[in-house]
Amino acid sequence: MVDLIGQYKHIKPEIDVAIQTVIDTGRFIGGPALDSFTQNLAQYLDVKYVVPCANGTDALQIAMMALNLQPGDEVITADFTYAATAEVIALLKLTPVLVEVDPDTFNIDPAALEKAITPQTKAIVPVHLFGQCADMESIMAIAKKHNLYVIEDAAQAIGAYYTFSDGTKKRAGTIGTAGTTSFFPSKNLGCYGDGGAMFTNDEALAKRLKIMANHGQSSQYVFDDIGCNSRLDNMQAAILDVKLKQLDKYCAARQEVAAYYDQQFAGLKNA
Ligand SMILES: Cc1ncc(COP(=O)(O)O)c(C=O)c1O
Repeated sequence: MVDLIGQYKHIKPEIDVAIQTVIDTGRFIGGPALDSFTQNLAQYLDVKYVVPCANGTDALQIAMMALNLQPGDEVITADFTYAATAEVIALLKLTPVLVEVDPDTFNIDPAALEKAITPQTKAIVPVHLFGQCADMESIMAIAKKHNLYVIEDAAQAIGAYYTFSDGTKKRAGTIGTAGTTSFFPSKNLGCYGDGGAMFTNDEALAKRLKIMANHGQSSQYVFDDIGCNSRLDNMQAAILDVKLKQLDKYCAARQEVAAYYDQQFAGLKNA
């Protein structure tokens, strides 16, 4: 669906230098490319903390682990999403509660979501599907009222803006308690393998996310928690740092294609 070779050809000189630099320096895990990409992504998203990890599925799992969700806790998400969203909830022995999506947007319906809340509900995972943000204003109001965490699954929407009713805009993944994304090659911002990241403005949570992505290790060889081994390697970070500069252009190209489909389907029954 995405012309990855065409994308590469367009930025080949910069990508080739980025990859060669990682090889020449021998810094394959952690290092300057990862630090640079993490900082640049935080700046792009206007979020305080970006915690990189191995893929978008891990990002969701680690966010739930870092928030100390416990077996039996209910986590509400959309009934129309990629399997990973519900999979990690079940994997952690939390209870997935799937609610209807709005047929106009394919994103979680806030009214259905509020009806599904019980005393066991601890978190909501809105998914910003196909690059379109869920109704975050309503979701955040519901979360506040019921004291729930919000983990935004922005695997398909990095670069998208959500506009609040007062006109303020925030990037997908930076509105809830935490946000997650995937750098799978075909995503808006894709690497040349697997990758993912988590976002938050909460310093304590950012610290927990880092610990849980690194074997539960709070300082060198101190393993206080059972965590994961989930890293974004330096090669992927170097590639992503180059591609980040193109992200707005990539999103605009997708919007152009979507507008073309809208135009061609206009007037059709069921369109
Ligand atoms: C909505 C959604 N959530 C989570 C994921 C999982 O991301 P990854 O494939 O990087 O594990 C994807 C990837 O396809 C996705 O589309």
